[in-house]
Amino acid sequence: MKKLSVLFLVLSLVLSVGSLALGQGVLKVATEAGFMPFEYVDAETGALLGFDMDLIREIGNVLGLEVQIDNIAWDGLIPALLNGNYDCLIAGITITDERKEAVDFSEPYFESVLTVVAKTGGGISSLDDLAGKIVAVQINTTGDFTASDLYDAGDVKGVSRFDTVADAMQAVIIGAADAVVIDLPVAEAYLEANPSAPLNHSGPVSDNEFYGIAVNKNNKDLLEKINGALATLKAQGIYDAIYQKWFGGM
Ligand code: ARG
Repeated sequence: MKKLSVLFLVLSLVLSVGSLALGQGVLKVATEAGFMPFEYVDAETGALLGFDMDLIREIGNVLGLEVQIDNIAWDGLIPALLNGNYDCLIAGITITDERKEAVDFSEPYFESVLTVVAKTGGGISSLDDLAGKIVAVQINTTGDFTASDLYDAGDVKGVSRFDTVADAMQAVIIGAADAVVIDLPVAEAYLEANPSAPLNHSGPVSDNEFYGIAVNKNNKDLLEKINGALATLKAQGIYDAIYQKWFGGM
């Protein structure tokens, strides 16, 4: 080989190793940022804020990875992970047996529960009160699964499925649906952020749920790293600080 081509070979090898290392230094994350206080878009800056956003950034910090977060459709999160477009998902995703068939979950990082949101004074304050009613949900959420089970049992009149929480809430506000079944902390945050909405919520109506960070099943290495980072953040008090920041007043 000529000296020059050897030089180019060495040069391109150095360059490709360099860019590989750069690629490895990034944690590509997807969320659906319509789920305050876990993930939402700051109205003024467009920044992604929330409990989950702080948590995943701190996980990146522990792992020495640059965290890049995309805000995509809720229903597209798991497909995008399976396609290899992302390394992990954090979006208030409840760990369920069905989802565990498709993806791996980190250790649970948050304990949650469902509630029922309905018009103030409308007499709906439990799942039983939904008999004969139209229930609005974000599609393919645990709220949807609960409402769909009620529908199958003949205990609600219909289930309206929306792409976003905001649209489901709006359906109740305009009277197109009677109630939303949704994660309680998100109902709280919505009611606080929309004080003029004529809505209230009933309190817990389900067994507790646990949120996990979803990772591709072929990426056990990352799963272990994320679990390790979660343990580190708990041990260092950083997890508690994030919790206090978003839920301290509750
Ligand atoms: N915890 C519920 C579930 O996993 C709802 C999550 C919705 N998350 C979101 N970012 N919209 O089904």
